[in-house]
Amino acid sequence: NKDILILGIESSCDETAAAVVKNGREVLSNVISSQIELHKLYGGVVPEIASRKHIEKINQVIEEALSSAKVTLDDIDAIGVTYGPGLVGALLVGVAEAKAISYAAKKPLVGVHHIEGHVSANYIENRELEPPFLCLIVSGGHTHLVLVNDYGEYKIIGRTRDDAAGEAFDKVARAIGLGYPGGPKIDRLAKEGNSKAIKFPRANIEGAPYDFSFSGLKSAVLNHINSCKMKDIEINNADIAASFQEAVVDVLTSKTILAAKEYGMKKVALAGGVASNGSLREGMLRECKKNKIELYYPSPIYCTDNAAMIGVAAYYEFIKGARADLDLNAVPNLKI
Ligand code: KG4
Ligand code: ZN
Repeated sequence: NKDILILGIESSCDETAAAVVKNGREVLSNVISSQIELHKLYGGVVPEIASRKHIEKINQVIEEALSSAKVTLDDIDAIGVTYGPGLVGALLVGVAEAKAISYAAKKPLVGVHHIEGHVSANYIENRELEPPFLCLIVSGGHTHLVLVNDYGEYKIIGRTRDDAAGEAFDKVARAIGLGYPGGPKIDRLAKEGNSKAIKFPRANIEGAPYDFSFSGLKSAVLNHINSCKMKDIEINNADIAASFQEAVVDVLTSKTILAAKEYGMKKVALAGGVASNGSLREGMLRECKKNKIELYYPSPIYCTDNAAMIGVAAYYEFIKGARADLDLNAVPNLKI
């Protein structure tokens, strides 16, 4: 049995990334060129700047991924690329690049769903993890509760009705002057604050126990700040960060545990940028232990956008026979 090597390519948002993955689980290289410093100046990702940066960096990132894995294109069995969801101009760079390589090097092409990539990040460091399990995906653009019934077989049972969890972190961070990206900054500041200081709402949606809503929480934070200003009360940013974070973690944790019990899932995985949140990990660990559920989550480097997770997802699609044609396009609102 020959090893299968996948070259993964990711450019859906603000990271240009390439990786080489062996047999779906072993990361031989994982190169990420982050644009965060550039977008910071504008307080968020500027789509056109993202596209321009991707086109500048992508060849260099792929070269580096191949060379640090000590392989050449010849050794690669297939190319996996994110084709959605994401920013269209950003996605197009990775898709066009992957198609060009596939054509020139005569290598099969596999289109990967970005969210499937985030889920698959869990397979890298948890070699024993196999479906079925329940996955909570919490990133800057997505908040989903997904039943992973098998490799490549997903059933979404809950989603956000408005803001994504990471988006809420970023907006609240901006409101208290922390800058972009806000998630890690709130995570840090919350440690100095009192999570019981302010009572922020935990949204429940009638008839949809696994759906999320974070816009009310975000408004509550803004209202709190405004009313402090009006009453000339000192604003305690650490308390705001801690109380806001606890509200988010409470909702994410309770809904995930509820779903795991309802669907009889003994394994729960976390994915996406917000999955590196310290308080979310602690809360999930505590509740999973209480309910005899095994918890999995990737290291922070595999939580945020990366191409190793795309290589892993592509591997499982590839061995099932999935192939993309050279007319593969970017699909900004791709459904899972
Ligand atoms: O998965 P990701 O890198 O990109 C998307 O696909 O969206 O997620 C980025 C999001 C940002 O909103 C960022 O603020 C958030 O993940 N994030 C965090 C933490 N680290 C990143 N949120 C809370 N706590 C963190 N430690
Ligand atoms: Zn992502």
